[in-house]
Amino acid sequence: MSMVDDIRKKARADVKTIVLPEGDEPRTIQAAYTIKTDGLANPVLLGNSAKIAEEAAKKNVDLSGITIIDPIDSPKAKDYAKELYELRKTKGVTEEDAEKLVQDVMYYGIMMVKMGDADGLVSGAVHTTGDMLRPALQLIKTKPGIKVVSSSFLMDCPNKKLGHNGLLVYADCVVMPNPTAEELAQIGVSAADTAKTLCGIEEPKVAFLSFSTKGSAKHELVSKVQEAVRIAHELAPDLCLDGEMQFDAALVPEIGASKAKGSPVAGYANVLIFPDLQAGNIGYKITQRIGGAECFAVLQGLAKPCNDLSRGCSVEDIINTVAFTAVQAQGAK
Ligand SMILES: CC(C)(COP(=O)(O)OP(=O)(O)OC[C@H]1O[C@@H](n2cnc3c(N)ncnc32)[C@H](O)[C@@H]1OP(=O)(O)O)[C@@H](O)C(=O)NCCC(=O)NCCS
Repeated sequence: MSMVDDIRKKARADVKTIVLPEGDEPRTIQAAYTIKTDGLANPVLLGNSAKIAEEAAKKNVDLSGITIIDPIDSPKAKDYAKELYELRKTKGVTEEDAEKLVQDVMYYGIMMVKMGDADGLVSGAVHTTGDMLRPALQLIKTKPGIKVVSSSFLMDCPNKKLGHNGLLVYADCVVMPNPTAEELAQIGVSAADTAKTLCGIEEPKVAFLSFSTKGSAKHELVSKVQEAVRIAHELAPDLCLDGEMQFDAALVPEIGASKAKGSPVAGYANVLIFPDLQAGNIGYKITQRIGGAECFAVLQGLAKPCNDLSRGCSVEDIINTVAFTAVQAQGAK
C-alpha cells in the first residue's frame, strides 16, 4: 500500500474536522466534496456562502452536508475575538483589533482550531506559508516540550532499499532559515515523531547531516551540528540518533560502516536532519526532481495540526494534505 493510501485509510478510521479557510477557492471546493464523500474528514469551508455556492455551481460540485461558515456573520466570532484578545493583549492587540482579525478567514480558522471547534487546518492554495504560519505560531503555539515549529518532507523514493522501504523523512525544508544547535535538536526530535505518526516508522533512525562525518572536517558549521546531536541525546535519550554525518554515510551501508564505524544510524537512516533551510529545501527538491521521489510536506511541533499547500497545488494535493492533517490530529493530545 502506498503512503498516501495508508494515510487515507488511517484518516477514515477516526474522522476529524478540518477547516479550509480558502473556502471559495475552486480547487478547495472540489477537494471538500471528495474529502466528505470519501469519509476522510469533515471539511468546513470558510468564506462568503453565496460566493462558495456560485463557485461550486460552476464546477458542478454538490456541497450538501458540508459545513460553510462566513466569519463576518458567525455567532462564534464574538467568543473567538474575546479569546484572541486575551491571548494577544500583551502583544498590543486591542479588543477592536481582535474583532477585526476574526473576520479574516485565516484568523477565524486558526481560532476554530484553538477553541476545539476544528481538529486541524489546511490552507495555502491562495495564501502564503507566512500568512497561515504567523497566526498559528501566535495563537495555537507549540506542543508541550517543543519550542520550535518546523516541517518535515515525507519522501517516497522509487529505490525501496533506501530508508524505510523507500520512505525518508527530511527536516526542516520550510520554516527555520538558520536554526541554532538547540533548535536543530528539536527539529530532529519532532521529525522522528512525524516519522512514527505519519510514516509508520516504529524505530526512527535520525541522522544529523553535515559536510563532515564524525569530525572528518573542522568548522564552526560542523560544530553546530555536533552540538545539536549532543542536545538531541539529552532531549530524547531513547531515540536512535547520530551525527554529524554526510548524506552518503547516512544512507549507504558500506559508506556508513567505513566512515562512521559502530554508528547505530549510519547507512540505515530514515530521518535526515539538514543543518539549515538552504540545505533542506535544496535537498528535497533534488530528491524529488532528480531522484523521482513523491513528496508531501507537513508542519510539526504545533500544539494542533495546521498544514500548508503550495499555491500551484492540485485538488489531489489538497485532499492528501487534509488526510495527513487528520492523522496528525488523531495523535494530538
Ligand atoms: C515562521 C514565520 C511565519 C515567522 O514570521 P515572523 O514575521 O518572522 O514572525 P515573528 O518572528 O514576529 O514571530 C511571530 C511569533 O511566532 C513565534 N515563532 C516564530 N517562528 C517560530 C517557530 N519556528 N517556532 C515557534 N514559534 C515561532 C515568535 O516567537 C512569535 O511569537 P510571539 O508573537 O508570541 O512572541 C516566517 O519565518 C516565515 O514566513 N517562514 C517561512 C519561511 C519561508 O518562506 N519558507 C519557504 C517556504 S518554501
